[in-house]
Amino acid sequence: MTSVPGMAEWAPLLKHRGPDATSPVMDDYRRAAAGFSWDAVGAELGVVPGGALNIAGAALDRPAAATPGKLALRFVDGAFATQDFTFDELRRAANRFANALTQLESGPGATVTTLLGRCPELFFTAFGALKCGAVFSPLFSAFGPEPIRSRLELSGSSVLVTTARFYARKVAPIRAQLPSLRHVFVVRDDVTAPLPPGTLDFAAVMGSMPDEFNTAPTLPDDDALLHFTSGTTGKPKGVVHAHRAVIAHYATAKLALDLHADDIYWCTADPGWVTGVSYGMIAPLACGVTTLVDREELDVERWYTLLEQQRVSVWYTAPTALRMLMKAGLEPVRAHRYPSLRFIASVGEPLNPEAVMWGMEAFGRPVHDTWWQTETGAIMIANFAAEPVYPGSMGLSFPGVEVALALRRPDGTVELLTEPDRIGEIVLRPGWPSMFKTYLHNEQRYLESFAGGWYFSGDQAKRDARGYYWFIGRTDDIIKSAGHLISPFEVECALNQHPAVMQSAVIGIPDPVVSQVVKAIVELKPGIDASPELRRDLIAHGRRLLGAAIAPRDIDFTPALPRTRSGKIMRRLLRARTLGLPEGDLSTLESGT
Ligand code: WT7
Repeated sequence: MTSVPGMAEWAPLLKHRGPDATSPVMDDYRRAAAGFSWDAVGAELGVVPGGALNIAGAALDRPAAATPGKLALRFVDGAFATQDFTFDELRRAANRFANALTQLESGPGATVTTLLGRCPELFFTAFGALKCGAVFSPLFSAFGPEPIRSRLELSGSSVLVTTARFYARKVAPIRAQLPSLRHVFVVRDDVTAPLPPGTLDFAAVMGSMPDEFNTAPTLPDDDALLHFTSGTTGKPKGVVHAHRAVIAHYATAKLALDLHADDIYWCTADPGWVTGVSYGMIAPLACGVTTLVDREELDVERWYTLLEQQRVSVWYTAPTALRMLMKAGLEPVRAHRYPSLRFIASVGEPLNPEAVMWGMEAFGRPVHDTWWQTETGAIMIANFAAEPVYPGSMGLSFPGVEVALALRRPDGTVELLTEPDRIGEIVLRPGWPSMFKTYLHNEQRYLESFAGGWYFSGDQAKRDARGYYWFIGRTDDIIKSAGHLISPFEVECALNQHPAVMQSAVIGIPDPVVSQVVKAIVELKPGIDASPELRRDLIAHGRRLLGAAIAPRDIDFTPALPRTRSGKIMRRLLRARTLGLPEGDLSTLESGT
């Protein structure tokens, strides 16, 4: 993707705060960056050098002690009915689940996985697991059985919390293949239906547990969170974060999302991905802020109603969602009033300048782009409340994080690009608290992400003379669709299981709303003819195995996929051919393909 707008085309949005503005938490970026120290942030959370740190202690026990009766979470269901939890109610519910896990001997050393939507049980499980020193690992509930199986196999998770419906459709068919999975808790959608055999009733177990629990005194470097991200080859990567990550969640929510104590905050991300955990769960609670949780999926009218009715003041969302709202035009947005809405931010994929400007038109506020990744655990580049916004730019480096652009030469040496406007890979100097600890069971791959003392992100960007970063594209074949990273390899493996398929190649096709859509190009086994029925059957096969979120939307047939002489499928060439782009360097192409 090279849709970087001319940097001078859009005027910077300098005066986007009204006269009644709340002053930003960080009112001067340069001064804050010069005086920034992670240790000082840790001290705000009660961390003492050499002492214990537990995410649940910092993000839940601490605010629950300070403001026990304050509203922590408000869930809104499809009929706009609300369910509220104060900080102390949430703390006690998490304690019950921590007690349940302890009784099952699933505390320290265990991994507790969720396959849930945005519901209270998700929070009870996450913080209950963290409290007893287990690792919390969320899965995306739109995954089909195959991605769920491969991730549970990699994590070796012994506890899963899911709903009765997901259990029947997605877990029961693969459970026999997961010998490590000892306990499955089921949140019952329908309490009159029988509990599936071999599962525990979440509500019944919670009801029988005491609500006090001593949060485990874990150390800052102990494992706490396991997220999955996609690789171009091989299995999904398990990204491990330590308890110290909470220091970065807290600092970035305050300084980059401008969270103030009296905010009503809404993060629209799914909890199955890192944004939903870092900024949908941990960060706002650590800041002692009230969080709105929508149990439903995106709906234009519903979202405007929620923003107005719930008086949301800080809203963290994604470019795909914003473009869906933009598509519906200005009329629905103007049917409501948003006097409380003060700060809008976005993450996950390139935020086009039009979307930033649309924020101005629709709400009188620009959209503040932020950049980070599963591996970084927290925001690394951001447009800050007190700084000008240049539409199309991802913003400035976060205080306390050293960001640079670099070229990695084949001999392993690194060239840092210091002069402005040169294109290089975004690299980060290790040392921020939410830096990942490893890729689970793949230390080699972890070590390969570092060179010359820098972490290499796999994203290309340029930086202007003011220090603002502009996204250029990824350095690999991984697809970004609706903010989710999708591994072409994982989709190909599922398609290749179909009896008619010889080989397949999966690529991302540009899309104006969701950035990219997944498309497969399939080479059939000899003697099998392409037909519209087979195409439909393959699409259904993909959806069944992978789930709608990552299955290919479109399939083409080809007599022979282009390969390198060493047999690797050239996805880049396929993409160029499909889109009618220049084919580039073909020196490694095997003749005849
Ligand atoms: C990849 C990371 C960040 C948490 C959610 C996704 C892309 C992220 C931006 C942005 C352009 C962006 C990058 C990055 N990305 N933010 N502001 N502009 N691209 O985490 O699934 O690990 O994805 O998302 O390619 O590497 P993730």
